[in-house]
Amino acid sequence: MPGVFSDLDLSPNPLELARQRRLAAGGYLDLTSSNPTLQGLLFPPAILRAAAESFWDARRYQPDPRGSESARAAVLAYYGGRTPPLSLTLADVFLTASTSEAYTLLFALLADPGDNLLAPSVTYPLFEYLAALRGLELRPYPLREEAGWAIDERALHAAADARTRGVLIVSPHNPTGAVVSSPLAALSRLGLPVICDEVFAAFTYAVPAVPPLGALHPDLPVFTLNGISKLFALPDLKLGWIALNAPARSFGPRLELLNDTFLGANSLSQHLLPSLFARGMPFVAQMTARVRANLDLALERLDSHPRLRLHPPDGGYYLFPRVTGWEDEETLVLHLLERGLLTHPGYFYGDVPGVHLMLSALTEPATFAAGLDRLVESL
Ligand SMILES: Cc1ncc(COP(=O)(O)O)c(C=O)c1O
Repeated sequence: MPGVFSDLDLSPNPLELARQRRLAAGGYLDLTSSNPTLQGLLFPPAILRAAAESFWDARRYQPDPRGSESARAAVLAYYGGRTPPLSLTLADVFLTASTSEAYTLLFALLADPGDNLLAPSVTYPLFEYLAALRGLELRPYPLREEAGWAIDERALHAAADARTRGVLIVSPHNPTGAVVSSPLAALSRLGLPVICDEVFAAFTYAVPAVPPLGALHPDLPVFTLNGISKLFALPDLKLGWIALNAPARSFGPRLELLNDTFLGANSLSQHLLPSLFARGMPFVAQMTARVRANLDLALERLDSHPRLRLHPPDGGYYLFPRVTGWEDEETLVLHLLERGLLTHPGYFYGDVPGVHLMLSALTEPATFAAGLDRLVESL
């Protein structure tokens, strides 16, 4: 059959079937959630209500293909305050419906069908679907687990060929938590445009700050992606952005045309953005404190377990421990599910040697603590 995804088997996999059975048979402790709104982390409604109040009477549809100026000014100010700052002009910021939409625009901006992009070999699973929409190949580059999941720069460099059009970096990385804290020689040698996803930048753990890659690499065109989905726990309000460092500016006019093709950024969410930055930071601090407390607990409880090898993440809200004594991730995850614990197998995130689990430290703390106990007992 023609059409994208027509070769995929869309029936539920064995893990999903087992999850449904377990749910019907009394439920489980869920350690996989990435959804703050279901984990008791709700952005203060009073701030949203007050900020929305001035929207309704003044609303006129006069879209700017880069997004409203007041919202872009708020993004610009945010990057001015980062460590180190990323210096932007208003024209360097593009507002989109989400980072997922931003990826779609950038894949079309940088590559033609049949070209390829380099992507980490364990990573956020959406990339392969987004690449398929544009007929692109994703060429995996490995991460070095023994070095805290740092990028294997030699392998990254070797993965490029004549049809490579860009490099994808996720920092803090999902699910390993690794942060790129200094410039990467392999990126400079490749000289390709870089798309850096920093949606977890506010969630620092082992590092004091997440440097914007566009500031670390003033030698390369860097497109920085972020949005309100993770930063302000507002995935439902649909707003993301792309920030271009100075070498990426030459792509601006074509990116403007691509963004104008969809005009996906919601006007209400754009109107809210300055207030989210102005009044939302205490809530962000509360969320990061929750995640840090959960990560502290997990490291304390799991690190001494003879079957678990755990690297403290630099940032983000996931843990990706290695489990020894098990041959197969699916058997392990089914074993845990039978004991009432939902985790993700490492293979959901790509191909990596060894057996791994993904645990989300965004989870509501009492459930998280009970889940850790169950994990320890079940192993
Ligand atoms: C690394 C990463 N990037 C982007 C997203 C999605 O962000 P958005 O809701 O802005 O599309 C996620 C969601 O889990 C993610 O893990």
